Amino acid sequence: TPFDLVVRNALVATAADTFPADIGIRGGRIVQLGEGLGAGAKEIDAAGRVVTPGGVDAHCHLDQPMEPPVRMADGFDSGTRSAACGGTTTVIPFAAQAKGQSLRAAVLDYHSRSEGRAHVDYAFHLIVSDPTPTVLKEELPSLIAEGYTSFKIYMTYDDLKLDDGQVLDVLDIAREHGAMAMIHAENADCIEWLTKRLEAAGRTAPRYHAHARPMLVEREATHRAIALSQLVDVPILIVHVSGREAVEQIRWARGHGLQVYAETCPQYLFLTAEDLGIDDSYHGAKCVCSPPPRDKANQEVIWDGLADGLFTVFSSDHAPFKFDSPEGKKPEGKEVPFRHIPNGIPGIETRMPLLYSEGVLGGRISLNKFVELTATNPAKAYGLHPRKGTIAVGADADLVIWQEGERTIRNADLHHDVDYTPYEGQRVKAWPAMTLSRGDVIWDGTNFTSKTGRGKFLRCGVPTLQPRRRHG
Ligand code: URP
Ligand code: ZN
Ligand code: ZN
Ligand code: ZN
Repeated sequence: TPFDLVVRNALVATAADTFPADIGIRGGRIVQLGEGLGAGAKEIDAAGRVVTPGGVDAHCHLDQPMEPPVRMADGFDSGTRSAACGGTTTVIPFAAQAKGQSLRAAVLDYHSRSEGRAHVDYAFHLIVSDPTPTVLKEELPSLIAEGYTSFKIYMTYDDLKLDDGQVLDVLDIAREHGAMAMIHAENADCIEWLTKRLEAAGRTAPRYHAHARPMLVEREATHRAIALSQLVDVPILIVHVSGREAVEQIRWARGHGLQVYAETCPQYLFLTAEDLGIDDSYHGAKCVCSPPPRDKANQEVIWDGLADGLFTVFSSDHAPFKFDSPEGKKPEGKEVPFRHIPNGIPGIETRMPLLYSEGVLGGRISLNKFVELTATNPAKAYGLHPRKGTIAVGADADLVIWQEGERTIRNADLHHDVDYTPYEGQRVKAWPAMTLSRGDVIWDGTNFTSKTGRGKFLRCGVPTLQPRRRHG
């Protein structure tokens, strides 16, 4: 038979088109699309179900060493297992440089954390926290050439943040070598000033995390990041955009012809600041992330931005900290002031079903826009397209077969090693009936059927969201 596997009677959705087809797979890749394909050694009847490209989660945190005693609950095994069961077949977590560490050493460290453990294919973004002359002149250029073509820089967090001069230095390397710079835009000094003031007033419950990071601090840093990128003349991507004021800055930049891309995440569509607590209950720690979730009106602004092209990618920002100790939100069992609550929330498995349910089936975005945001654009932004992020001849056979039907999100049904989900009790209207990675069924709707270590490391090419500008 010409095919290892044929997925028959699919309703194939790409970022551009929706059409009925059989999908012929050989050697882990899609080799033919069409009606009435010949027999495969194996066959799956998709029976008219929607089939999308496997998700590309371009912002998730796996096995990042934290300041002791805090630690992440998911490494590459449980993190990619959870991803697969929610329809994600490529992840791009971070290889984070500690201050004083060489970037090369950070990359080697993350390879030893991931090697032999992943269930789906993965690449790395770098986190540049210490842009020394050696990092700028030697390590970054050579790592970009070796397939680490994107990096995140932070304008906040003491152990990660860069000052404006350092941001300019790093952006200049991105320009020269065609890398994609992701920017975490919040004003660190404003946050510190507000935090101290809240602490002096005894306001240290989780909900005050949101008071310490109002939208103004995100708006100011977003504006500054845009200005710095304009000065250097390089595209940037603003990560985890939370609401109206940051969106306004990005619309302004776009209106002026600047190549400013933006990412948002499920927490800005499905959570509000009230989820951090309406009283001083510590349960609010479960939703502490930065920027914090805003309010219902801001959720609508984010939905509008997804629908109208303001946002380029939709990522989970999965940050796997348990609620009850092993040293997550309650380090050593203690309820700590919000300053010490590890930032970030889990969501690698719920990202695709939440957006499919409320976005596509809720009538807010088209099926093709869903594919673009969750798979095609992240693959293009980080140099993995067309191998990843689309259903096309020659692409990897990374597929999700969707099943519509009401269900309720329960952490007990998820596959991460975090002890809660911020979306407990949330109703969804669809879930992957099957996830295929390079032609292997790794989730059959009930059982996780992968082998540890089958996921491969991917070297990224240059970003292809648009042709690289020529300059001389
Ligand atoms: O609160 C968040 N988002 N934590 C994860 C790290 C980051 O800044 O993305
Ligand atoms: Zn961030
Ligand atoms: Zn993050
Ligand atoms: Zn040049």
